[in-house]
Amino acid sequence: MKLFPQLLSLALLTGTLTMNSCSSKKEKEASEEKPGIEKTAYGKLPDGQTADLFTLRNAAGMTAQITNYGGIIVSLTAPDKNGKFEDVTLGQDSLSSYVKNNPYFGALIGRYGNRIAKGKFTLDGKTYNLFINNFGNHLHGGKVGFDKVLWTATPVDGDEPALKLKYTSKDGEEGYPGNLTVEVTYTLQKDNALKIDYQATTDKPTVVNLTNHTYFNLTGGAKRDILDHVVSLNADRLIPVDKTLIPTGKLQDVANTPFDFTNPTVVGKRINDSTDTQIKYGGGYDHGWVLNGPADSLKLAATVYEPTSGRLMEVRTTEPAIQFYTGNFLDGTVTGREGFPYKKRYALCLETEHYPDSPNHPAFPTTTLRPGETYKSTTIYQFSTKKE
Ligand code: BGC
Repeated sequence: MKLFPQLLSLALLTGTLTMNSCSSKKEKEASEEKPGIEKTAYGKLPDGQTADLFTLRNAAGMTAQITNYGGIIVSLTAPDKNGKFEDVTLGQDSLSSYVKNNPYFGALIGRYGNRIAKGKFTLDGKTYNLFINNFGNHLHGGKVGFDKVLWTATPVDGDEPALKLKYTSKDGEEGYPGNLTVEVTYTLQKDNALKIDYQATTDKPTVVNLTNHTYFNLTGGAKRDILDHVVSLNADRLIPVDKTLIPTGKLQDVANTPFDFTNPTVVGKRINDSTDTQIKYGGGYDHGWVLNGPADSLKLAATVYEPTSGRLMEVRTTEPAIQFYTGNFLDGTVTGREGFPYKKRYALCLETEHYPDSPNHPAFPTTTLRPGETYKSTTIYQFSTKKE
């Protein structure tokens, strides 16, 4: 009998505890569904610095996970035609995997997106030599590009959560002149769009061409290759390249070539057309297209549709060109979060940028940035679904 009150109070206590854990679980679930930004530790870099992982969520349930190491988009979810959110990017399982070997998955690219021939350019009469890291050329900023540095991160909470990243690239880094202060802001919008705003200033004349190198596979979880994805590019002209993927300097009409994506076209349809020299050089698509419409204002650049999931991605940008790369160099050596290998053409990239090797082509839109000027660029990747 004497025990009864104790048992009762124990039961009550347990009940209370259960109720508490119920309500805290609900609160947790609710907070997980609420729009906003959350920060967690991601891991330690070889030099001892700590990288963080930021999870941005909008009210619709879309999430973007971004680390301040390389500004890498670690995952990005989008709904399919049944409302199921799945990751539509390629990504790795840990910070150490990204550090060990990352073919630029999700990363910010700088100072110069794509190639500079022989790693050399002349500006105001002075010749600069950059780090050579790609068949005699300079690619994606060199040995330690912006994809491999730790950015200072400032989370911005709200219905449209944002992550502001800042990095100062020292005068002479990778061979480039000038201290360059770069700010990149990722914003997860209410309308299931990820917006990327880039800004940079310098204290000496230099060249800048920033982009993001996310590999997309709209099947969700990279279930298979992207050859069935349907792509359109708002571009009448291609920037043809030589064998080492350096622009020849001329522009080429896409009409009647495998590069005509002015109407939505299945990626695999002409990707192996070995009679086309440009396809041969790229090993598929690995080229810049000149976007139609005014440079510097936001315009539709590309659409990607994946028929089985119904997912549609629209890319808008202020940049004058887009690099469409079909993962031709993926060879299964890098595995994803689920542990399976990412093979050739398991993803496509749509890198909005200026033309490759612009510093060596005075006729191309300039990539020179001078003290007192501000480099500005915006790209938006928006997700929705459509029925066939
Ligand atoms: C380039 C490819 C390169 C890939 C990964 C793309 O932007 O055009 O040639 O293999 O990035 O580095």
